[in-house]
Amino acid sequence: MEIFLDTANIDEIKRFASIGIINGVTTNPALIAKEGKNFRDVVNEICSIIDGPVSAEVISKDFKNMIEEARKISKIHKNIVVKIPATEDGYKALSIVAKEGIKTNFTIVYTANQALLAAKLGATYVSPFIGRLDANSTSGNNLIQEMATIYKNYNFNTKILAASMRNVIYVKEAALAGAHTATIPPDVLAQMMNNELTNVALDGFLKLWYELDESKREYFN
Ligand code: E4P
Repeated sequence: MEIFLDTANIDEIKRFASIGIINGVTTNPALIAKEGKNFRDVVNEICSIIDGPVSAEVISKDFKNMIEEARKISKIHKNIVVKIPATEDGYKALSIVAKEGIKTNFTIVYTANQALLAAKLGATYVSPFIGRLDANSTSGNNLIQEMATIYKNYNFNTKILAASMRNVIYVKEAALAGAHTATIPPDVLAQMMNNELTNVALDGFLKLWYELDESKREYFN
């Protein structure tokens, strides 16, 4: 499973990139705005840190401008994946830019039918918004399972990118349901790495180790 970091925060991206556990980054207009910097600068900096897919989103709602923006954004760096929202104009823009070879992340997806159409149009990734769907009393996890079945039935190459991950359980369930990728906020990814019992066990081992006479603790030479 590919793990993307769902943030535009450079410090967080550097932190997780240095651990080696992220394959890419996703941003959206809200995440970029939160950083208070120029769009192009932020996207460029992210691409200089992480050697993998970096999603950056169009902001127009009409297809003509979406296409223009998609073309411009895709030129920022070879790893750019252009996010296009699942609106009627979005499908229209997707069908054109996908044919031009621009990598796409069809986003804000809430139904299997939206995901089916995006795959037919050649989306590279499709992002179901799992947390937001759950908050609306509909199972986000069922949606991933449906998408996985549909994509398998028709041999689509489109990847399911589980988004809007609210906690570690979301990520595990997305992986079990067949998501190819999950984009995860930094705090949730940090929690995934840790377990209190690991720390308790490690402290116990090291406590006994340091009770051993110092002369008997040499083992690296
Ligand atoms: C990712 O690509 C999305 O922009 C993100 O996961 C949305 O998450 P949210 O529901 O926390 O805004």
